[in-house]
Amino acid sequence: MSNGVNVSSGPRNWWRNAVIYQVYPRSFADANGDGTGDLAGVRSRLPYLARLGVDALWFTPWYRSPQNDGGYDVADYRDIDPVLGTVEDAEALIAEALEMGIRTIVDIVPNHVSSEHEWFAEALAAAPGDPARDRFWFRDGRGESGELPPTEWTSSFSGPAWSRLDDGQWYLHLFAPEQPDLNWSHPDVVAEHEAVLRFWYDRGVAGVRIDSASMLVKDPDLPEVGDHEPGGHPHNDRDGVHDIYRRWRKIADSYAQPRVLVGEVWLPEADRFARYLRDDEMHMAFNFDFMTRGWDAETLRESIETTLATHRDVGAPPTWVLSNHDITRPVTRYGRRDSSFSFETKRFGTPTDLERGARRARAAALLTAALPGVLYVYQGDELGLPEVEDLPAEVREDPMHHRSGGVDPGRDGCRVPLPWTSGGKAFGFGGPPWLPQPADWGRYAVESQLADPDSTLSLYRRVIGLRRELRDADFAWIPTDPQVLAFRRGEDLTCVVNFGDAPAALPDHAEALIASARLEDGRLPGDAAVWLRTRPSHQ
Ligand code: NOJ
Repeated sequence: MSNGVNVSSGPRNWWRNAVIYQVYPRSFADANGDGTGDLAGVRSRLPYLARLGVDALWFTPWYRSPQNDGGYDVADYRDIDPVLGTVEDAEALIAEALEMGIRTIVDIVPNHVSSEHEWFAEALAAAPGDPARDRFWFRDGRGESGELPPTEWTSSFSGPAWSRLDDGQWYLHLFAPEQPDLNWSHPDVVAEHEAVLRFWYDRGVAGVRIDSASMLVKDPDLPEVGDHEPGGHPHNDRDGVHDIYRRWRKIADSYAQPRVLVGEVWLPEADRFARYLRDDEMHMAFNFDFMTRGWDAETLRESIETTLATHRDVGAPPTWVLSNHDITRPVTRYGRRDSSFSFETKRFGTPTDLERGARRARAAALLTAALPGVLYVYQGDELGLPEVEDLPAEVREDPMHHRSGGVDPGRDGCRVPLPWTSGGKAFGFGGPPWLPQPADWGRYAVESQLADPDSTLSLYRRVIGLRRELRDADFAWIPTDPQVLAFRRGEDLTCVVNFGDAPAALPDHAEALIASARLEDGRLPGDAAVWLRTRPSHQ
């Protein structure tokens, strides 16, 4: 199965057309039967991932962590969380995956650490004003006795972004209180992250995904969030953040096989987003504009056009993302009346039509796989898993849910452990899963889908294989009805997606290569997509 790729000798631009599979390790496969996925579980399933045809795995944080935010609260970057395994397991996994032609990308969380990180413990043990506090944002409060937080800033997980200590000082956390924000003007913070990058690069990882990448730099004067010029927000997208990534890019480029930087950059303005992709900064960033849009021809066409233009200008490959560990599963989302996504509108009791959502999610897979650039697949989307919306209150872990007072359903529903077998204990996942799987999940299991050529898994395998032929083929729209999107890739391939209800006629073609739903008398049904070979193949 080896294709001889190794991290020092592979093609330098492997990432430009890659398929990158996101592993949420706690929920992928549990080898030791304790109910939480682990690295040994991932190793045991590498043949599955190789057969799926992915080029790289992105692991959400696997470091030692009290798991107050699913691992995005890192206590020690140089250690693997004991629930998942050991550093030796990670090394073995990286090496074995590479032998199968699969690279590894790890998550770096530079905006904050866990409150159990040794630096924060030192800061808490120190008195106000002690230099040990300077690696974070400790401040006195406002009001007569400092009883008011230093600013009115709010946390992304609801409530104030400041928490107060018994000694009266406040510290900043743009996420949960267990995730204190680092002070990026402190030399230790800069040096430590650069050392951590090298630590993992030296263990063979091919790149890093950078968490909350636009939020690291803060205005030291701590003004309130108000109207501001681009770059003038007090704690997001400040211009100084780019210096950090320029330094990181130099480190990445210093390796014989340059490492790759992938940004989690949530910004509404395309031009501000593109600044992170300049050729001395990140290699690529997640396309959240596309991901959050509803299932609608016009809105998606507009997003595709903006994406292609923005990326063309900076020479970075676009990325196509349907979901991740923070987002409602596409099958559930696309079945809703409003199929766009936003954290603010995510609420319990929003109806969905799962059958329709599943049809659309299959079509979306064909659409995204046909577009130029990098394709991201979140684990379980290749199985067409729906969001689990009825998890009992007592098993929900996500701070987004708890800190909203239970109003926000949180992100546990897209993190339920994968089903591997159609029956048996935990559907082949391992021990009793940390989040319970719905009783009917056997029908989504890998085992069930392998036996079915029309399954979503079979669709993904096939389309990922076909996609390899597209490489850098050029892109051109084909004029169609407003309910239909059609485009050509190179001379040979046309992708057509029908967003309407009525079947759509197809352009002239030699052969239908793959379709998300059965064609009806040569026409493409609604909520479906097809790849057409435009000229007869030369065989
Ligand atoms: C973005 C991550 O994707 C999310 O899961 C996490 O909660 C926040 N950043 C904070 O680290």
